[in-house]
Amino acid sequence: MKIVLKIGGNEIDEAAFLTQVTSLVGKLRKANHEIVLVHGGGKEITGLLKKLGIETRFVDGIRYTDAQSLDATEMILSGGINKRLVKTLQLAGVSALGASGVDASIMVAERITRSGEDLGLVGEISAINVRVVEDLIRQFVLVLSPVSLDKNSGASLNVNADHAAAAMASFLKAELVIFLSNVPGVINAGSVLPRIQEREFEELKKNGVITGGMIPKVESGLRAVKGGARIAFITDAEGAGRISSGEIAGTQVTV
Ligand SMILES: Nc1ncnc2c1ncn2[C@@H]1O[C@H](COP(=O)(O)OP(=O)(O)OP(=O)(O)O)[C@@H](O)[C@H]1O
Ligand SMILES: [Mg+2]
Repeated sequence: MKIVLKIGGNEIDEAAFLTQVTSLVGKLRKANHEIVLVHGGGKEITGLLKKLGIETRFVDGIRYTDAQSLDATEMILSGGINKRLVKTLQLAGVSALGASGVDASIMVAERITRSGEDLGLVGEISAINVRVVEDLIRQFVLVLSPVSLDKNSGASLNVNADHAAAAMASFLKAELVIFLSNVPGVINAGSVLPRIQEREFEELKKNGVITGGMIPKVESGLRAVKGGARIAFITDAEGAGRISSGEIAGTQVTV
């Protein structure tokens, strides 16, 4: 099976989280699944921007990105975090290759606005070099930073990692996509929703139940299944472990 795993940046600097992700990926590789591991890096990007004295602003959970923020984002995502994940996997005996959307034009993006607001150097994926990805994932776990190539300028564009994972899952027609975050699923009134559909999403967003980074995540689950991925879940590392053992966990996103 082709599986897209998206891991969030909230715990990506914690050894225990990296161990959980590594054992999950190792288990899936042993079972002969082909894996694209798309990663975020929200927390560390915000940390570096703060050190540089750049204020962070989000529009619907998406980071406004000016030229200086893009440099910092690319450094953290395509450099530090990408290589940290590759090294961790390799140390555990899982063959991994790190790249960003820029490399071999794996992901080409176009600039977007959001609710009429300019987001700066932020894009969404318009094309994926599927042949390259399919070749690579036969041999390696493809560890992918969501920074992508701007179709029009040839420069880099920041892409929300959930959006990138959704595009990857759609273009690959992945059998499974898991958005693995620091929460067990979409939470409403204290409990994890076992399932969410577009109509409920719009309602929960309007009522302020789904906010911040959960907005692009649910949106991405919906896009993935609409785009041809078979099954999409939002969960945490523990839930992802259960799903990979054939159980259900977290929130399934359906159309
Ligand atoms: N209804 C909700 N249920 C669960 N989490 C929610 C909800 N609404 C908002 N959130 C927030 O969404 C966050 C997850 O999105 P966030 O963008 O922070 O993480 P990520 O996507 O895993 O990481 P990264 O953005 O670095 O890739 C949760 O930590 C939580 O604070
Ligand atoms: Mg996020």
